[in-house]
Amino acid sequence: MNIDWPQLRAAAVDVAGRAYAPYSRLRVGAAGLTSDGRVVVGCNVENASFGVTLCAECGLVSALHSTPSRWPGIDSHAPSLVAVAVVAGDGDPLLPCGRCRQLLLEAGGPELLVDTASGPVPLAELLPAAFGGADLSARRDSGAAAPS
Ligand code: THU
Repeated sequence: MNIDWPQLRAAAVDVAGRAYAPYSRLRVGAAGLTSDGRVVVGCNVENASFGVTLCAECGLVSALHSTPSRWPGIDSHAPSLVAVAVVAGDGDPLLPCGRCRQLLLEAGGPELLVDTASGPVPLAELLPAAFGGADLSARRDSGAAAPS
């Protein structure tokens, strides 16, 4: 799949301009290419209760799931992320925080390409030895009752 990195970076810069970041004054924009060929975006949204703040990648992943797929009705082909550019308001790449690396892992897998100052790298390089859904299914109790 062809990845138009200049287009993704430009979309990230554009959406960073709509960030709501009055507390940190660090605007962040994220743009991702999906496996069905869409470009989805997100910006950070802060809150007076600081812990409630949403990173730009949260909005991006919400857009992945909440905007219509070009492959409707085929659950086994649910679109995922293929490439992501995250930038700060200055236009330069911003490395996703740890929580967002975990969020991106579930949305794009370890091969998801993430833009960095030295070019795109697979997410596995930024989040090695990751915990994922396979650990849940392999390691959970089989017969334990839920607490009452
Ligand atoms: N931020 C993001 O949007 N994404 C990240 O990966 C790192 C941090 C935002 C959250 C907060 O609004 C601001 O940057 C300062 O932490």
